[in-house]
Amino acid sequence: MSIVNCEPLKELVRTVPDFPKPGILFYDITTLLKDKVGMAQLIDAFAAYYIDKDIDLVLGIEARGFIFGPALAYRLNAGFVPVRKPKKLPAATAKVSYDLEYGTDSLEIHLDAIQPGQRVVIVDDLLATGGTMQATVKLVRQLGGEIAGIGFAIELDFLKGRAKFQEYDVLSLLHYD
Ligand code: PRP
Repeated sequence: MSIVNCEPLKELVRTVPDFPKPGILFYDITTLLKDKVGMAQLIDAFAAYYIDKDIDLVLGIEARGFIFGPALAYRLNAGFVPVRKPKKLPAATAKVSYDLEYGTDSLEIHLDAIQPGQRVVIVDDLLATGGTMQATVKLVRQLGGEIAGIGFAIELDFLKGRAKFQEYDVLSLLHYD
């Protein structure tokens, strides 16, 4: 396991004031994603951390967890599972509702997406309040998966979302105070 210093990648993250509503400073990763060096370094950093953890599945949370999840799964020789907003998945699902930084929503996963005991890493772009990830943790536990790690590209430290995951191995590549 190694933790790569990703601080230089902050230069590639664009901040957008008052999006999606007044008072919210939005951390826009599209400017990082389009940079071929930055994109590679981000995936490399995730992969370096999880490569020796015997991961069976990478779960990505809709929508921006879908950007990192499959690339990481490929690097780990693991499968990818989408955790989706309501009514998107076609087969039988488990569902959990949660509070957002701005609003409420629900997430679903296919009931057969995880076999009991499979080792899972959950990834998303951003840890804010932690509500979204907390809902996903509940889904994984319902299905009997073992949460080997929780990974974010960005953590907003001042919102203290990390406190919701004290029993888990949480990796955030970029931190903002
Ligand atoms: C954003 C972000 C995370 C979540 C973090 O997604 O991509 O998934 O909020 O917030 P939290 O830690 O307070 O739960 P959003 O709900 O905006 O959905 P989207 O990715 O589909 O735009």
